[in-house]
Amino acid sequence: MNNENFCNAVIDGLAGEGYAVLPCVFPAGLIAALRDEAFSRRQQFRPAGIGNQAMRAQAVRGDSIDWLEWGECEQAAQPFWQAMEALRDGINRQLYLGLRDLECHFALYPSGGGYQKHYDNPQGRSARLVTILLYLNPDWRPEHGGVLQIFDPEDESCVLARVEPRAGTFVAFLSERFPHEVELARHERLSLTGWWRRG
Ligand code: OGA
Ligand code: MN
Repeated sequence: MNNENFCNAVIDGLAGEGYAVLPCVFPAGLIAALRDEAFSRRQQFRPAGIGNQAMRAQAVRGDSIDWLEWGECEQAAQPFWQAMEALRDGINRQLYLGLRDLECHFALYPSGGGYQKHYDNPQGRSARLVTILLYLNPDWRPEHGGVLQIFDPEDESCVLARVEPRAGTFVAFLSERFPHEVELARHERLSLTGWWRRG
């Protein structure tokens, strides 16, 4: 999928349903470079918190994270950031969201980790407008669990999408709109998560 088709597919999803799920949008080499980048920082990963409530947080989410800046990433990972820049420009041009900075972290769930149902921007209280996810697990199998579920905001018992965290699958959704959850992973699960903030 070229950059332009990728941008259009994400923008159509955000403008329509409010979310987009796109398998295999990036070359395998780029996914491998991002994976290498994550594992080269493995020592820096820290248990994710919710505010300062680290203990409570562990019951809610089992991942460890490492915040990242593009400038720190190896050259081989740069095409991903270029694609995100192009996507942000396209979203701003076509949907007028006024997205500014992308805050981003790697997230590593150990076997037995998940993330209970939550909003990334509850009631619009934070500056997060659009959530992006890129999965980095080359040999993921259904029995590994770890599925992302996106729920219907009008009826949370209704699942709109179930997404396996397979290498190269890209997800974007409006941060304020969708409750979502990570089912327990039964295998180590690596992803890159980001949020575009309003100015
Ligand atoms: C998050 C999140 C989903 C996933 O980090 O806020 O919801 O599939 N992640 O990793
Ligand atoms: Mn989330």
